[in-house]
Amino acid sequence: MRSLISILDLSVQEIDELIDTACDIIENPAKYAEACRGRKLATLFFEPSTRTRLSFEAAMYELGGNVLSVSSADSSSAAKGESVADTAKTVSCYADIIAMRHPKEGAPYVAAKNASVPVINAGDGGHNHPTQTLADLLTIRREKGRFDGLTVGFCGDLKFGRTVHSLIGAMARYPDVRFVLISPEELKLPSYEKDVLKQKNIPYVQTTDLMEVMPELDILYMTRVQRERFFNEEDYLRLKDSYVLEPKKLAAARQDLSIMHPLPRVNEISVAIDSDPRACYFKQVLNGKYIRMALILKLLKEAGRI
Ligand code: CP
Repeated sequence: MRSLISILDLSVQEIDELIDTACDIIENPAKYAEACRGRKLATLFFEPSTRTRLSFEAAMYELGGNVLSVSSADSSSAAKGESVADTAKTVSCYADIIAMRHPKEGAPYVAAKNASVPVINAGDGGHNHPTQTLADLLTIRREKGRFDGLTVGFCGDLKFGRTVHSLIGAMARYPDVRFVLISPEELKLPSYEKDVLKQKNIPYVQTTDLMEVMPELDILYMTRVQRERFFNEEDYLRLKDSYVLEPKKLAAARQDLSIMHPLPRVNEISVAIDSDPRACYFKQVLNGKYIRMALILKLLKEAGRI
């Protein structure tokens, strides 16, 4: 049974095909309006979410399907101690496909091993968030028209930011991509992620100074400091406003810069940036629905359920 746990579960060719399908859905929504009639998506969210859960649910409705939803850990039998494996076996009896978010790294993998329907990782702890990456890639394709040859700056919490880990993994497969890693010392990209870049000879630099590197960037991917992953509040309070993007800080930026953020934002992008034509983060939100429609279609087709 094909599931999606890491973005690397998809080949570059499959990602291209998903993006092409998403673009066709954008152009021809009526063609897909009945594609999942009679099928059910279960969204199992054991951690808070606005975009991912609602975009999955909107995606399934726009494909003509239905949705079963667990929107918090305390509203399911997980609160009584039920295991992820038993939850997955149970929900497989009711739904054709599952999207799961969980605070524990690896929980969607365990679910996929025990489910009899496809499981999609909708974010596991500080580990991975492959469908956010698909939304990011669709956004980059629509904004830049390509993936190769781009200089991508990641700024903020690169230690705990699962969207950063997944997008670096995905972009590292395209030629001539270069990464600029901008973070406080305490929130640097984990060594195991950098080791992969080193093994593949992919150029990257690390810095604490956003302004110094701003003119080089084709994409600036801002992230929030992940309060929920900190062991103590003091450290979070000290680091949370390390980077706040304001209009004056874009003075040296390229005119064709794309400013991205997986959202939610807290304080790291001023609302005054929202009206700048370079701001792409609400485009990412909308693209997230279309690419999740494409993914649901792909996995249900491969499972023989549509
Ligand atoms: N980008 C993202 O995962 O947002 P939510 O936490 O609101 O789902």
